[in-house]
Amino acid sequence: MKISIRKPGLFGLIFLLVCAALPSLAAAQRSTDFALLDQHGVFHQLSRYGESDAVVLFVQGNGEESSRQALPLLQALQERYREQGVVVLLLNPHPTQTRASVIQELASVGVELPVLLDSAQVVARSLKVETSAEAFILDPESHDVLYRGPLDSQVSTADADSAQPTPYLENALIAILAGDEFELASDLPAPSGTAIDYLYRSRFADRQISYQDEIVPILKRRCTTCHIENGLAPWAMVSHRMVQGWSPMIREVLVTHRMPPGQIDMLEGEWDNVHQISDDELITLVHWIDSGARREGDADPLTEQLAVDDSWKLGEPDLIIDVPAETIPATGMVDFKIKRADLALDKDQWISAVAYNVGDKSVLHSLLVFAVDPSIDQKDLVGLVDPDNAEFISLYVPPRTEEAFAADSGFLLRQDRDLSFKLRYVTGGRDTVDATRIGLYFRDSAPEYAVRNVITLNTGFSIAPGEDNHVERAQTEPFEHEVLVESFAPQTHTRGKSMSISARYPDGSEKRLINVANYNFNWQMNYKLRERMRLPAGSSLVSETVYDNSASNPQNVDAEAQVKVGITTYDEIFSHFVRVLEPVGN
Ligand code: HEC
Repeated sequence: MKISIRKPGLFGLIFLLVCAALPSLAAAQRSTDFALLDQHGVFHQLSRYGESDAVVLFVQGNGEESSRQALPLLQALQERYREQGVVVLLLNPHPTQTRASVIQELASVGVELPVLLDSAQVVARSLKVETSAEAFILDPESHDVLYRGPLDSQVSTADADSAQPTPYLENALIAILAGDEFELASDLPAPSGTAIDYLYRSRFADRQISYQDEIVPILKRRCTTCHIENGLAPWAMVSHRMVQGWSPMIREVLVTHRMPPGQIDMLEGEWDNVHQISDDELITLVHWIDSGARREGDADPLTEQLAVDDSWKLGEPDLIIDVPAETIPATGMVDFKIKRADLALDKDQWISAVAYNVGDKSVLHSLLVFAVDPSIDQKDLVGLVDPDNAEFISLYVPPRTEEAFAADSGFLLRQDRDLSFKLRYVTGGRDTVDATRIGLYFRDSAPEYAVRNVITLNTGFSIAPGEDNHVERAQTEPFEHEVLVESFAPQTHTRGKSMSISARYPDGSEKRLINVANYNFNWQMNYKLRERMRLPAGSSLVSETVYDNSASNPQNVDAEAQVKVGITTYDEIFSHFVRVLEPVGN
């Protein structure tokens, strides 16, 4: 191993500044944006640190001496430079090192820093990391690598007159923060960590990935429900050529965890019907893309896609309701639409399922259905969805076009109710009209459990312009009877960053039930537990939403605004729907 010893402190700085003054030797290395969850389930994305001047990233490994020595130095560095807009993150690219083991490792050295868990190793791979203990300085806006190399010079204990190692990373940081033109030095010693054991290398060492047998099945499982002709996504995966052409973009959306959409923290809770991609699938797709996204032979199973199925999949509904049609322009932002439909039921009905026959799948992104008091004025847009008069029934989020309640449960739609709808549209590049129909299915008899949608609501907050981590909480009234929790549909508008819901038990203890770590305004889903969860009488639900009102939030409609609660896209909401079941008769 190459060990280089330099005189400490000022000399190193001058050396770097001198380098900086020289004509450009090499352009800064380009990297990509990336995103990962840390050991506590918090989502970190490089570009979301756009308000910061520099992101320091250090490759960590549990039990490694080089990491253990570096961690306290990095924590101290974070303290020293926080005020100057520096964020320090650790990266753990070891698939077998779990969250719990990382928490334990950091506790053992008395350090608390976010450790990004790169279990599919795609971030380390993107940064071309070869050993642990390598340190980076990244520009969160351009994603450029401004520095890569060791944290400092490793001082050999035998060397008496250089007791202080040269802090290479810190010197680079000082130059970068001072705005000095800065070049990566080419003669830095290698980092002293251990080699990263990349799974893709052993897995694909002696063979090519098969497009037909390996890639297409992943795309069909994870992507083509939406990326289909006339589907919801803006482009269809209909051929190898198409996928190959899009492959740099596919790589980016995978590494930033934008696609598949709506990801929650899968390590908390067991979930049904969530879009997600496994580490193995991710490793395979990224390796295939990095190897040129090629196919073998002429056959292309992607061209054999099914057409969009527009029939009522649950059979002919008992009642079909037309949602009033809406004209959507080709471009721009469309505000939420609130609409109403008269029902004129002749008796109370137990709903067993709701189905959606979507008019234009390319523009309708979500649709909430409420049972509403008909005396509310149709022009009273707040009243039509206000939880005081309107009870949430069901949510359409593509691609699922039906929602059947469990066989032993149903929603009681009272005879004196109408329906109201909250619709969110995106523009799709052409003028279009969406005329969606909703099908209701009724039960012949009362079910064992009534579906009730509890809402945790908070209406009193105000978020300052540019605030990137504004936390709000709300708690429900305690449940009078035992309930079974079935699913969660947390909702915010464009400033939403993350959300979580916990159970608060009668003894005061709390347990987190869902962590929507990577909230995306485009994807407000209903997350269903694999098994219902019992909450004893006297328990309540506590919700938390974190808002990002800064310009680094790519969804933010206006980072200059003081934001309050309201119904338009420019306002915010805090309303989390939790579906619970209560025995009928309670
Ligand atoms: C639930 C539907 C759905 C699934 C599943 C899905 N996508 Fe998408 N995809 C969309 C939509 C809708 C968009 C448009 C952007 C948005 O709304 O977030 C999109 C956009 C994209 C884009 C373009 C991004 C851009 O900025 O233009 C890529 C690339 C992409 N998806 C790849 C994938 C891949 C790869 C998978 C599977 C691993 C996948 N998607 C799964 C719905 C989906």
